[in-house]
Amino acid sequence: MTTRLILEVCNVRHVYPEGGTGLAGCSINIRRGSRNALLGANGSGKTTLLQQLNGLLRPASGVILLDGSPLDYSRNGLNALRSRVGLVFQNPDRQLFSASVFEDVSFGPLNLGLEEAEVRLRVAQSLAAVGMAAMADRPVHHLSFGQKKRVCIAGVLAMRPEVLLLDEPMAGLDVAAQTELLAVLDELSSRGITVVLSTHDVDHAYRWADDIHVLAAGRCIASFDAGRLPEQEVALKAAGQALPAVVELHRALAARGLQPATPAPRSMNALIASLAAWPPHGLAEAAPLGTSLGTPPSTRPWHDARRGRLRRH
Ligand SMILES: Nc1ncnc2c1ncn2[C@@H]1O[C@H](COP(=O)(O)OP(=O)(O)OP(=O)(O)O)[C@@H](O)[C@H]1O
Ligand SMILES: [Mg+2]
Repeated sequence: MTTRLILEVCNVRHVYPEGGTGLAGCSINIRRGSRNALLGANGSGKTTLLQQLNGLLRPASGVILLDGSPLDYSRNGLNALRSRVGLVFQNPDRQLFSASVFEDVSFGPLNLGLEEAEVRLRVAQSLAAVGMAAMADRPVHHLSFGQKKRVCIAGVLAMRPEVLLLDEPMAGLDVAAQTELLAVLDELSSRGITVVLSTHDVDHAYRWADDIHVLAAGRCIASFDAGRLPEQEVALKAAGQALPAVVELHRALAARGLQPATPAPRSMNALIASLAAWPPHGLAEAAPLGTSLGTPPSTRPWHDARRGRLRRH
């Protein structure tokens, strides 16, 4: 029987041998097929949690369930876990070790003992998925940082994982490379792969995720549907995070009657599109900039207009 939750982290504590507390009783549920952002400041426990999820680290106490069963830390259990739950490190140089792109991506499938034809097929498909098919024969050390990141993702995809974990995948990428990487993640997500990434970037988490999990001091202090982020100001503040810029801007516009209060757009592009279509046909002129922010909602022109009381004559 399949469960709706693919991963359950139950009160996990992690203490590093040197004495640092990585996780201090962390609980998180990951829904099968969902896009998840672990959002938190430096040192909040994101990397420790991701490494726990694919068995690189083991809880000092607490338990992690995959598909309802506790993780198996035996050698065979870990091999099976890592083919189901793949981790892409923040620094690609920590992950890549073979001479060529092809060799690197084929390493995992070869270790699974697959036939050569199957290995070649998986490498070709994984490199194509990240837009690196043309670079299979390139030496790894001739790649740019962003290309190395893609090869790391291809290496994990070649294992055909159910869950893809990425530690700060956007870090170090320029805007174009970030956009391309997001398209790759969207494509994987549309194939049903569960994606969990860590980020400090609240704008990115709000724009991209289905579920956001806010980490602070080794705990998850809030998990919510990303669309409800504007209601989570207290948790965000506790984790040292501001509201996304698009939420702040949308609030200021709504307070001036230049946007409806809901729904809040999730990206600047969505806000710009909404502004371009404002005011909707048949509604009153929007209030001019400078309208008092303190005006109660019921007296704002757009608010009444939506009820059909105020119409353009
Ligand atoms: N190898 C280590 N030895 C001791 N303490 C560690 C070690 N790695 C991390 N820690 C501690 O564990 C806590 C969580 O660290 P972690 O790297 O998981 O945070 P993070 O959210 O990934 O931070 P960042 O955003 O900086 O990557 C921090 O207090 C950190 O100092
Ligand atoms: Mg980290």
